[in-house]
Amino acid sequence: MKIGALTGGGDCPGLNAVIRAVVVRGASLGHEIVGYRDGWRGPLEDDRFDLTPDRVEGILATGGTILGSSRTNPLAEDGGIDRIGENMAAAGIDGLIAIGGEDTLGVARALTDVGIKVIGVPKTIDNDLGATDYTFGFDTAVNIAMEATDRLRTTGESHHRAMIVEVMGRHAGWIAFHTGMAAGADVILIPEREFDVDEVCRHVENRFAAGHAPIVVAAEGAMPIGGFPETADDSTDAFGHVRLGGVAAWLEREVKERTGRDARATVLGHIQRGGSPTAFDRVLATRCGLHAVAAASEGNWGTMAALKGTGIEMVTLAEAVDELKTVPSSLYAEAEVFFG
Ligand code: F6P
Repeated sequence: MKIGALTGGGDCPGLNAVIRAVVVRGASLGHEIVGYRDGWRGPLEDDRFDLTPDRVEGILATGGTILGSSRTNPLAEDGGIDRIGENMAAAGIDGLIAIGGEDTLGVARALTDVGIKVIGVPKTIDNDLGATDYTFGFDTAVNIAMEATDRLRTTGESHHRAMIVEVMGRHAGWIAFHTGMAAGADVILIPEREFDVDEVCRHVENRFAAGHAPIVVAAEGAMPIGGFPETADDSTDAFGHVRLGGVAAWLEREVKERTGRDARATVLGHIQRGGSPTAFDRVLATRCGLHAVAAASEGNWGTMAALKGTGIEMVTLAEAVDELKTVPSSLYAEAEVFFG
């Protein structure tokens, strides 16, 4: 069989581990693996190259993706889906392994609906895909953000400042929640729950009163009650997402004004997505790749490799993109015990 592989959406540590697993296992099963460049742009423009076990030697531990990525959306292009089908047929590609988050997998599902064979592998540092317990990339992002927050704590203590850390997470606060829990944050702000800025300032003052530098971890999608108009930029990508950012800077100003104490904002941004994956992410990514190739060999198209407990199971692509997984309020309450 000839299988095309692509990585779409925001990159994350572990993508290369999946590609390696798909290529090595694919070759041992007698399949030819072709890499499409830059997400859905590859099959749309028929931009591809052959992937052999030699080509993927040594990439397991590397960040990024050797295939490149983009947020190209074939559903937003006139005749995009048909073009992908025609290009695949002309190149003799039997099916695709699409490694991506909700947007990439949403396209995969639409392709499946018109009879194009696709298998999904879930990735996102945001960990917000409903059908899988964890996505690779998330553990690495949390470890990076935790280490950064630990470092911010020591400089905050020296200068008696409130330190506000902005992490990624548009609609789901998983990175903020886990980072805050792991780094012992005094306040964690997530998109799932609008925050009261007075309450945040009360926690900040309590920590100062106890002789400590307060740490606030905020997801980029966190909003004050009644809404927060600031975005880094009003432009949207091909999937209609606004570029977020600005909550930490806004909070820095509010904390200074309302408490009279010094504060500093740090936006971790794409540092969370770069570099080598953790052991957990390397193993999860590798296992997802192996199961995706196995599913292709069995003709189990239209499915996605999902982590359920400690096992990998194939779920339908429809199930995979059905619902965004957000932080439940009962879990958030566990972190709230440590606020202020
Ligand atoms: O989808 C993953 C993600 O890292 C989000 O957490 C973040 O909002 C977004 O991508 C950033 O996208 P870009 O790389 O296009 O700036």
